[in-house]
Amino acid sequence: MKTFPENFLWGAATSAPQSEGASRIDGKSDSTWDKWFEMAPERFNDNQGPQITSDMYHQYKEDVQRMKAIGMNSFRTSISWTRLLPDGQHLNPKAVAFYRDYFQELKANGIEPIINLFHFDMPWWLMEKGGWESRESVDTFAYYAKTAFQAFGDLVQNWTTFNEPMVHIECSYLQGYHYPAIHDFKKAVQAGYHTLMAHIKAVSEFRKLQIENAKIGILLNISPAYAKSDAPEDLRAKEIADHLNIFSFLDTTVLGQVPDFLIEILAANQLLPKTVAGDKALIANNPVDFVGMNYYQPFRVQAKLDGKQPAEDPSDLYASYVWPNRRMNEYRGWEIYPEALYDVAMLMKTKYHNIPWFVSENGMGVADEARFADKTGMIQDDYRIAFMQEHLVQLQRGIEAGSHCFGYHAWTFADCWSWLNGYRNRYGFYSVDLADHQKRTVKKSGLWFKTLTENNGFEA
Ligand code: BG6
Repeated sequence: MKTFPENFLWGAATSAPQSEGASRIDGKSDSTWDKWFEMAPERFNDNQGPQITSDMYHQYKEDVQRMKAIGMNSFRTSISWTRLLPDGQHLNPKAVAFYRDYFQELKANGIEPIINLFHFDMPWWLMEKGGWESRESVDTFAYYAKTAFQAFGDLVQNWTTFNEPMVHIECSYLQGYHYPAIHDFKKAVQAGYHTLMAHIKAVSEFRKLQIENAKIGILLNISPAYAKSDAPEDLRAKEIADHLNIFSFLDTTVLGQVPDFLIEILAANQLLPKTVAGDKALIANNPVDFVGMNYYQPFRVQAKLDGKQPAEDPSDLYASYVWPNRRMNEYRGWEIYPEALYDVAMLMKTKYHNIPWFVSENGMGVADEARFADKTGMIQDDYRIAFMQEHLVQLQRGIEAGSHCFGYHAWTFADCWSWLNGYRNRYGFYSVDLADHQKRTVKKSGLWFKTLTENNGFEA
């Protein structure tokens, strides 16, 4: 029997823009997603936009019962910045009422809310002023964060600032998947730096409020780099990849310092961001209480010897490669490598002073998942059960070895909308029928999760 620590958090995660819908009602203003979909719907898979998603804005009460039915004792979602502060300054009373009721409903049913502030949903009014490229975004975000802490601090004890800041920056400034979808490495670094400072100032606001028993953290995408070989050039490629993708935010938010190696790489490529006097001290004085790790797949790297200098893209600094032994999630196209979760657990224990952390996302996306429904309409997702169980085996090994992991959140509770992918990749414990008022049906994995949580572990 593989068992987990007492009071382990078993849950699932989603985000406001991917689950609430109601994206243009009750006073909410537009995020970049609402606006981009209006401007270029053809960019979105099957022309699917963010207006309805899984309709949790209207169905949250029933959804809380569904969470309870599969044994969840915690749930992560985010607040929509453009719902709470439609113009950046004035509170929207309908948003306050909605979130207060939502969080109260969770708590009344024994489900601990973990509430995030930013999940890729930049307000359009701020985007028009430059978004994360502009230093103004730092204080603007800190004000939003303070407002949320004040409005919901009596209900929420576990706060996080950002979900996967690196993913959002890369997708916006290097890969073309998030608005403004441009390619500019220098802007990417500057926007990343402002995001970091926005996080740091939000933590500083949080500390000033001294909310009883409340903690604050950040949610990071962790795809550890594995080098092709032990050759020094491949190991250096791994170092660079890990510094850009992981240590940039982990060292600054947990250890309170920007790694020297990262500064060297950025300087050598004329990528150092503009900073403001006092930033360094703010970073040093505002470490987080805990970290969430979103883990889906590893990153395989090798040396890139003929990249442009100065680099115009991270791929000028290291190259990806295909590991010959890899196993793929053939339904989504990502490598399956559960062992990385053990490595992450050990990284947190050794390099990050055993800070409390949890798996804040892990799961298996499946395209066209309706093909796996049985006659009753229930998705028989044995592949997802196997995926999660394999990851939990590695996580439990890490915990046994002393890593301070306090929870596991699957992505996601009910199938949700996912950016340019629309509804292509399904991840939920519940399927959502877009043709029938977003009707939910529990999947086999939801029932498996219930047994897992009841036993606080599983036979392996
Ligand atoms: C995570 C994000 O990186 O991956 C989620 O935090 C996203 O917002 C999830 O939905 C799954 O990604 P995708 O592209 O398979 O839907």
